Amino acid sequence: MATLEIHDLHVTVEADNATKEILKGVDLTVKQGETHAIMGPNGSGKSTLAYSLAGHPKYTITGGTVTLDGEDVLEMSVDERARAGLFLAMQYPVEIPGVSVSNFLRTSATAIRGEAPKLRLWVKEVKEAMQRLNMDPSFAERNVNEGFSGGEKKRHEILQLELLKPKIAILDETDSGLDVDALRIVSEGVNRVRETGEVGTLLITHYTRILRYIKPDFVHVFSDGRIAESGGAELADKLENEGYEAYTTKGGVSA
Ligand SMILES: Nc1ncnc2c1ncn2[C@@H]1O[C@H](COP(=O)(O)OP(=O)(O)O)[C@@H](O)[C@H]1O
Ligand SMILES: [Mg+2]
Repeated sequence: MATLEIHDLHVTVEADNATKEILKGVDLTVKQGETHAIMGPNGSGKSTLAYSLAGHPKYTITGGTVTLDGEDVLEMSVDERARAGLFLAMQYPVEIPGVSVSNFLRTSATAIRGEAPKLRLWVKEVKEAMQRLNMDPSFAERNVNEGFSGGEKKRHEILQLELLKPKIAILDETDSGLDVDALRIVSEGVNRVRETGEVGTLLITHYTRILRYIKPDFVHVFSDGRIAESGGAELADKLENEGYEAYTTKGGVSA
């Protein structure tokens, strides 16, 4: 079973000519087959954790380690991370003009599997996965993320997740901007992948509502750049009732 191990991770960003420490010692272990939810107030550093794991150049790792099955993830290029089995869906995915969803998916699958999927099988695989997500077949010919609605971006993420079959998937605010129907379809996709038992999922979210559809094995509360509390699914219920007030220094300012 693959294991992602984050140990004492410290991360800074440059903003307004100053260096700001955002992550202040994150410890977290995610194993294949497990579903972890990271919850927390806005600005607590959740997306910074996702970007740091993705290898985004704006985020400087100043301390700590991240390993996947003992291999140093922080030394890997973005491509190498994907090939090693890490999948990262960003809160604000980028547009890729001139590249269709269909080509993008096949190129990604080729890179990750080490060989191009057989075209006929691949077309069938994509078509079936799109049907499960209630996506119109014409979607495959659109340019990646160009003019996608919030719901389309998230469905596209889950489509990638289903087709690329990573070992560890990090989903940042996959629930944001979704109406109830889209939320259900996206959640069902995550649950299908989960049922294979072959993916460890790190579900980053501000809101508790997605956790009505996806029951996490572990819940972690993020506050001021580190994990303030960890527990089981019952911790999400507590957050739903009480909010993040107990975890924000000023109290009551959690948006
Ligand atoms: N690229 C960046 N440049 C400047 N500040 C950033 C950047 N990314 C994050 N921050 C700051 O880091 C803090 C945490 O942000 P973020 O990780 O987006 O939190 P969350 O996802 O929990 O809402 C915020 O104060 C934010 O302004
Ligand atoms: Mg965020």
